[in-house]
Amino acid sequence: MKIEGKSYKTIWFENNLVKIIDQTKLPHQFIIKDLKTVKDAINAIKTMKVRGAPLIGATAAYGLVLSIIENNDLSFLKKSSEELIASRPTAINLKWAVDRMMKKLSGVNDEDILKIALDEAKAIKEEDEKFCKNIGLHGLKIIEEIANNKKDTVNILTHCNAGWLATIDWGTATSPIYHAHQKGIKVHVWVDETRPRNQGANLTSYELNEEGISNTVITDNAGGILMQRGEVDMCIVGTDRTLFNGDVCNKIGTYLKALSAKDNNVPFYVALPSSTIDWSIKDHRQIPIEERNSEELSHVEGIDENNEIKKVRIYPQKSKSLNLAFDVTPAELVTGLITEKGICEASEKGLKGLFK
Ligand code: MRU
Repeated sequence: MKIEGKSYKTIWFENNLVKIIDQTKLPHQFIIKDLKTVKDAINAIKTMKVRGAPLIGATAAYGLVLSIIENNDLSFLKKSSEELIASRPTAINLKWAVDRMMKKLSGVNDEDILKIALDEAKAIKEEDEKFCKNIGLHGLKIIEEIANNKKDTVNILTHCNAGWLATIDWGTATSPIYHAHQKGIKVHVWVDETRPRNQGANLTSYELNEEGISNTVITDNAGGILMQRGEVDMCIVGTDRTLFNGDVCNKIGTYLKALSAKDNNVPFYVALPSSTIDWSIKDHRQIPIEERNSEELSHVEGIDENNEIKKVRIYPQKSKSLNLAFDVTPAELVTGLITEKGICEASEKGLKGLFK
């Protein structure tokens, strides 16, 4: 998608370097950063310069490319793969991408390994882009139906950033919205601010603005009253890990939106590429829920009147805080899963029907 009218992807490989857009600086500064080593890739994931399940998967794949460029040695590659997987625990795409790369590279000789690694990382990237586009084409049908019945602007609520910045392009939750907008359907997006890191306000609103899509940032607690007032036609969110029984793990606060949607008969959709499905665990209590630094809660960052980025404390130093980054929305609260292969029920039957 576009930033100031110019098309970008979130990650690319150029002159033996991996290039990323530093998302910790958006929306105030647009900075392209070079990742030179696998440590740089690990650090970019940990500090959330890159974030969003599909994008951290692709970054991990390119991290392994950097590892080979740095030191073409099997034990170094294995260590790199373990450190990449451990860099963030909840999104399954990270492990999925590293496992796929390591499988492709197993038994490959030293002369060929770099080219094979590069081709596979590129394939992961291009596949995600294609899958997100298809998610958009499937999700578009739902928006079209609402628009046809309503004959007015379709109001869509989303949480966190499951936009193109969280993927390679198009996004998951935003892809149907971008496709609807391109088709001339009038859409307006309620953007949950998404405390503590404000990915909604900082990233989703930013990318929608850049594409000329009407949107309004709301506090994380405002979705309920908007749904009661009939001002939300549907919710679409992303996911970091979808269990094969249809339970959805996504950014903290998603569950409360789903509860509110259920209470108000608002359809609640989850958009995902198949790389986000965890086929191995059935019980959501086994999902490792990331707990991040409490400073993300106690401090906020923004720009002052001189356009300088400042970070300030917002509550007492003595106060304790707990910063859980994800929660789980049970399958029964999910109206449907929008995938690259079509829309299905959030259940084992639904998912297995699409992904044999
Ligand atoms: O902590 P983040 O910013 O990486 O969390 C991102 C989300 O929760 C997204 O909704 C999810 O990764 C889906 S991205 C298409």
